[in-house]
Amino acid sequence: MRIDVVTIFPGYLAPLDDALVGRARRAGRLDLRVHDLRRWATGVHQAVDDAPYGGGPGMLMTAPVWGAALDEVTASGEGAPRLLVPTPAGPPLTQQRVAAWAVEPWLVIACGRYEGIDARVLEDAARRMPVEEVSLGDYVLAGGEVAALVVVEAVSRLVPGVLGNPASAELDSFAEGTGGLLEAPAYTRPERWRELDVPEVLRGGNHGAVARWRRDRSLERTAAVRPDLLDALVARHGPDAFD
Ligand code: ADE
Repeated sequence: MRIDVVTIFPGYLAPLDDALVGRARRAGRLDLRVHDLRRWATGVHQAVDDAPYGGGPGMLMTAPVWGAALDEVTASGEGAPRLLVPTPAGPPLTQQRVAAWAVEPWLVIACGRYEGIDARVLEDAARRMPVEEVSLGDYVLAGGEVAALVVVEAVSRLVPGVLGNPASAELDSFAEGTGGLLEAPAYTRPERWRELDVPEVLRGGNHGAVARWRRDRSLERTAAVRPDLLDALVARHGPDAFD
């Protein structure tokens, strides 16, 4: 899979050299390219932003700079990529969206800064490729770079061959394998630590009992912290969802 990230702070993406994503890149499973938006800026000051029409605080990233960058990056491969644009005004990132992106051959992530990007950039891009906005959550970051890191990591671990054990992604919180619920708590050795014991059922060899215990804890935890996920499960599978 190929992922291009366009940003005015390429250094922000340096963590993608490390850990799981770094390993996937070196193994050739992930072709990740980070581009400095200023390469496409013109003029002595290489400005990428300007004041918004209609007034208001802050600056907007300009259409000509982003247009030139996206033209060049999206013409550098086969077919059209899917363009992802992090913004607090987008629909939220979910594991479902991550899973859908993980089967795409090519993603381009456009990181905005300041008050965002001139709206015509996305309108124009959508003439040639699928475009999706995405928000990390109901809070405002200083730019899209952190969201790009999140998207690249979440997508990469679903790309075949990136995770050592693909079964671990199937049992993640929010994954289909757990019914879209939160994971049960997990324990490893030692069996007793600071007078706290690993639950008895996990120490026996009864796989059915372990599975039931995990499902019950998963339901309990989800009801306590994310009741909205239980509602979504019932909406998808009906009232028998918990049988
Ligand atoms: N850029 C600024 N805030 C953001 C958010 N919450 N999610 C994604 N991109 C952003």
